[in-house]
Amino acid sequence: MVKFPSLFTRAPLVWGFASSATSHPLEIVTDPLALARWPQWHHNERIMSATTPITACPPEVPSPAPLRIGPLLVDPPVLQAPMAGFTNYAYRQVVREYGGAGLQATEMVNARGFVWMDREKAEHPDRLWGVRDEPRPLAVQIWDNDPAMLAAVGERLAHEYKVSVVDINFGCPVKQVTEKAQSGSYLLKTPERMGQIIERVVAACDPVPVTAKIRLGCTRDAINAIEVAQVVESAGAAALTVHGRTAQDFFRGQADWDRIAEIKPHLKRIPLIGNGDLDSAEAVVDAFRRYGVDGVMIARAALGRPWLFHQARCALRGEPIPPDPTLEEQRQCLLHHYELVAARFGEAKGTQLMRKYACCYAQGRPGARVFRTHAAKVSTADEFREVVERYFPRDD
Ligand SMILES: Cc1cc2nc3c(=O)[nH]c(=O)nc-3n(C[C@H](O)[C@H](O)[C@H](O)COP(=O)(O)O)c2cc1C
Repeated sequence: MVKFPSLFTRAPLVWGFASSATSHPLEIVTDPLALARWPQWHHNERIMSATTPITACPPEVPSPAPLRIGPLLVDPPVLQAPMAGFTNYAYRQVVREYGGAGLQATEMVNARGFVWMDREKAEHPDRLWGVRDEPRPLAVQIWDNDPAMLAAVGERLAHEYKVSVVDINFGCPVKQVTEKAQSGSYLLKTPERMGQIIERVVAACDPVPVTAKIRLGCTRDAINAIEVAQVVESAGAAALTVHGRTAQDFFRGQADWDRIAEIKPHLKRIPLIGNGDLDSAEAVVDAFRRYGVDGVMIARAALGRPWLFHQARCALRGEPIPPDPTLEEQRQCLLHHYELVAARFGEAKGTQLMRKYACCYAQGRPGARVFRTHAAKVSTADEFREVVERYFPRDD
């Protein structure tokens, strides 16, 4: 990504601050240290103050049009990605308080698991925590390989939960999903099956739009994103998100944005959302400018920086990019996130769940390694607060 030159000014600024996962059998990443090693409606927006430098985008920066997903207008066209084990209600709420994400997404929900829990226990997956009541727009992502099962769950989400978008996962590379359940990116091998699934889910969810999220292909030798994109559009999906890696790549190497851009001329009706490695507001602006996408999606970089969407929104408007909040404000944000999670899961489970988020918040800050070492061991609320108090990176 080409970085824009920075213009530095000193000025007071206003930041967005204000204010809720039993785990699913399929937890993709539970090791906080592993996560830390990875490369990297405007309700109640969080108000914070800071006097650190502001970066301004150059005047030629385009302001991309809002993204149209069926009847839904996504503005700004910057989406918060679904991430299993991470994008639960608490995380979405923290992002929402800063603002800037035009559409937020849940973790992926297994359709078979939903149907089984509904029938056997009259309950729904924990991954739907918050979904009934939280602000819209909101996308729920589902995965499976059975068209009828996916349609049945899509129908419930669209008409009972009244979500804004039902997204189908065709990109997950994890063995439990691909080899064991022949779902996620496994389905990229059989575009006709993907078409059948999308057609059934679209019919069941109508008028709620259905979208698809894919990778470039299963392997570098079997890149078929253009063919798949055409199938997705013909089957009636309302948007396509492409993560610019193959399933074989997992998270290795760099996302191939040239390959994402190649898909655009092959879509006649639906918007293309690019995803992969966007880690700054400048990178978001650059992605729109260089690759002609209609929208972008951010995942990992916003885990410990939930204000990134707000920064991206400012950049896309050609406004000065607010600096990251001060480390003290980031510390407060982490504690606030902790309270939301602990209120839902209780002290023991909530504290354990928060270890991985705590590591994300510290990533790339001075002293992160020491903080992570301590945060990875906390098991009570007092321990969590003490470790954050003593070891979370400080401004001095
Ligand atoms: C921990 C983790 C969990 C993820 N879970 C999902 C998921 O449930 N559904 C999905 O479509 N993608 C999932 N992804 C992929 C992201 O949505 C995104 O496509 C990928 O991380 C690339 O974007 P990034 O470079 O901005 O992180 C996950 C990624 C990570 C790191």
